[in-house]
Order: sequence, then structure tokens, then C-alpha cells
Amino acid sequence: MGFKIHFPDLNRSVEAEEKETILDSSLNAGIDLEYSCRFGRCGACKILLLSGEVEHLSHGKFSLTEEEKKEGYILACRSVPLSDLILPWIKKKV
Ligand code: FES
Repeated sequence: MGFKIHFPDLNRSVEAEEKETILDSSLNAGIDLEYSCRFGRCGACKILLLSGEVEHLSHGKFSLTEEEKKEGYILACRSVPLSDLILPWIKKKV
């Protein structure tokens, strides 16, 4: 069973398939989170987790530091929901 990812800024929720990353679930639902490499290397998809728990998949140690993790940041491309989540929406840079 998947979990819901709620974006209060957009008043929208997304269903995450089991083992699907936050970035993939969001993009598949038409929510254009910022990203670049999609492999945990660049840090472009870094986002503050407002509520919920995620599994952190492997990523570069400089794209998300241990200190940032303690502050609640995650990499959307390398995080899989372990519960329902609440996230801010950050518009892609143009
Ligand atoms: S898109 Fe590069 S770290 Fe997520």
C-alpha cells in the first residue's frame, strides 16, 4: 500500500506507489518539483519535510549533509515515503 503526499501550498495530494520516490510520484501527478540529476548528486531537489517519515536511499554526502537531515531536509529524488507526508511546494527555477 502506498502513502499520500500532501502539498498544502497547492491544496493537492498525491498517491505514492510502494517504493516510489517522492520526486517520481510528484512528477507523475503533474507537480513540478525542482530537480536535476535524479540520482542524489546535485541537491537540486532538496526540500523540507514538514511531517512524516521517509527512507533515505543512497546519495552523495554533500548533496544532503547529516546536519541538513537533522533539520528535516530530504532529497525528493532519493526519498521513499514510510508514512503519509506533508511537503512544501517549491517552484522550479526558470
Ligand atoms: S535531483 Fe539531484 S539530488 Fe535530487
